Amino acid sequence: MQRIVILVSGRGSNAQAILHACTAEGWPARVVAVVSNRPGAAALEFAAQQGIATAVVDHTLHASREAFDAALMQVIDGFAPDLVLLAGFMRILTDGFVQHYAGRLLNIHPSLLPAFAGLHTHRRAIEAGCKLAGATVHLVTPTLDHGPIVAQAVVPVRPDDTPQALAERVLEAEHRLYPLAVGWWVRGELRLDGGVVHHTGEESQLLLP
Ligand code: GAR
Repeated sequence: MQRIVILVSGRGSNAQAILHACTAEGWPARVVAVVSNRPGAAALEFAAQQGIATAVVDHTLHASREAFDAALMQVIDGFAPDLVLLAGFMRILTDGFVQHYAGRLLNIHPSLLPAFAGLHTHRRAIEAGCKLAGATVHLVTPTLDHGPIVAQAVVPVRPDDTPQALAERVLEAEHRLYPLAVGWWVRGELRLDGGVVHHTGEESQLLLP
């Protein structure tokens, strides 16, 4: 049984989707801990309610990014994870952290990368006149919101969309996309070739509406 640690900063709806997926029969992984950099993160509450171990590594109590990441690594490694998931984890990670988990660190980002890395993705997509938006699950590399793409979900941008309305539509897609991609990883169905991730199973790496 593979061990998953999820890093969160807030609401944790993606973490919840992963936790739910792990309850499916035959799923070869379980979430062993949810770790937050914010003490009040809602994600911690529901994880604890489901009997999942939780931990907080408060970034405000560390003098540098390196010190925070070192403390975070120590906590994560205490749970001996096979896979570490960023799910709305809103901290930039050091190269040392990323390298420590190379190949077993996934992120979900609310845009069709490589478009709109960083923040305010939905507002930027609307302002750019995009007709499609979506979410990306990717392997984490030291460059923010880059790294080999595992899967993407697409949603339409509607003419009257507000950033919030688009965010809700994308988030729904995220809740289907992330468990799908994590399932492939834990079943060993992903192959990295020349910086490109291929899914060796039947399902498409592009999730359409
Ligand atoms: C999600 O939309 C996720 O893609 C995004 O934060 C939200 C977290 O929601 N992540 C990023 O922007 C990371 N760059 P959640 O806490 O309900 O899962």
